[in-house]
Amino acid sequence: MKPRSLTPGVLALALVGGWLALRPTAADTAAETALARGRAHVEKTCSGCHSDVALDAAVKSRLHGGADALDAFLAKHFAEDSALRADVVAYLQARVAAASDDS
Ligand code: HEC
Repeated sequence: MKPRSLTPGVLALALVGGWLALRPTAADTAAETALARGRAHVEKTCSGCHSDVALDAAVKSRLHGGADALDAFLAKHFAEDSALRADVVAYLQARVAAASDDS
């Protein structure tokens, strides 16, 4: 087989591969929705008492015990709903990780 005869097939594979790699997956969308819900709750509820800096510091200190420790704390601290709390924890983890990258 001449290499040239492969070209259309290779091109098609590259296109499909690129599309698969770049298209937004259902999982991405669900994760984005979760983060947006977590963020909305934090801005609405937590920011009234905690400044951004204070909240990041408090979250970091709780995260030393792992996401479960933060989850357990928030279950009794303004995020009683478990589904919402999971989104809040995901958002706070992402936010603290992003803040650490800057420093
Ligand atoms: C009514 C005021 C108020 C609201 C609303 C509030 N907090 Fe707090 N939070 C406090 C106080 C007071 C403390 C204890 C003193 C401190 O550590 O700053 C605290 C402590 C914490 C801690 C630290 C615990 C530790 O081990 O140091 C975390 C984490 C935290 N809050 C996260 C949140 C999150 C997330 C929300 C929103 C879901 C929230 N807080 C909403 C007042 C509030």
